[in-house]
Amino acid sequence: MLSSTAALLQRARAQGYAVGAFNIYNLEGATAVVAAAEEMRSPVILQILPSALQLGRRPLAAMSLSMAEEASVEVAVHLDHCSSAEMLTFALECGFSSVMADGSAMPYEENIQFTREITALATAKNRAVEAELGKLSGEEDGITVAEREAKMTDPDEAVDFVKKTGVSALAVCVGNIHGTYHQPPNLDFARLEAIAKQIGIPLVLHGTSGLPDEMITRAIDHGVCKFNVNTEVRSAYMQALGDRFANSAKVELVEIMQLGIAAMKEPVKEKIRLFKSANMT
Ligand code: G3H
Ligand code: ZN
Repeated sequence: MLSSTAALLQRARAQGYAVGAFNIYNLEGATAVVAAAEEMRSPVILQILPSALQLGRRPLAAMSLSMAEEASVEVAVHLDHCSSAEMLTFALECGFSSVMADGSAMPYEENIQFTREITALATAKNRAVEAELGKLSGEEDGITVAEREAKMTDPDEAVDFVKKTGVSALAVCVGNIHGTYHQPPNLDFARLEAIAKQIGIPLVLHGTSGLPDEMITRAIDHGVCKFNVNTEVRSAYMQALGDRFANSAKVELVEIMQLGIAAMKEPVKEKIRLFKSANMT
């Protein structure tokens, strides 16, 4: 059933588990995530990037919302990383459970103003807003310690930001990066703990692909109740298709769609197990 992101995250926070938010791009992705969640009896979040919506935002939104409505488990639909007020408004108007108003690239005061405006729109519709403080990179190679620290979420700033914007979830930068970790992941758990202690809303960790299992468990213990996962699921899909094409000259389209779904289901189920959200719906 289509569910409230805020309710899913608040329950997860109270009960000590996390909800997986998996990026989907098409029917195969949404099918894989919902099927994995149903098999595991887990709540789940289907999240969509603005770049995926560019291909046909109304059809992709409608398909995701319809799959959420028909699912036998709780499924929220979330707009990921969006700095366009127009796109955020579209998502809120067409029924997304939540949106990420991503003003993290803006100067601090501008981020507050932008996030506050989107939060007002969302609150009027009883929907949730996630924001981000700090700067999440795609690559961290060659970065100095000072540069690394400067990108991280400041706990005191987080308190001020949450108070001024009224967001319902905060994405933190504590050494997590999007995409491939070219060096062993090094999360600042002391910083995560300080943020969790000072703000009473659910914390979100982006860049979950490639994080070791024990870091995921530790992050949950330190207040993270939404993990964003994209690369691992997308790679499983593309790898499966690539292998299939490499192994045969004759490939049926529906067959590779099914293959893609099966390939994506595995990492989703594995992450649900790690997030401890199985049997929580
Ligand atoms: O918003 C999406 C993510 O933060 C996904 O990160 O591709 O490293 O799993 P990832
Ligand atoms: Zn992200």
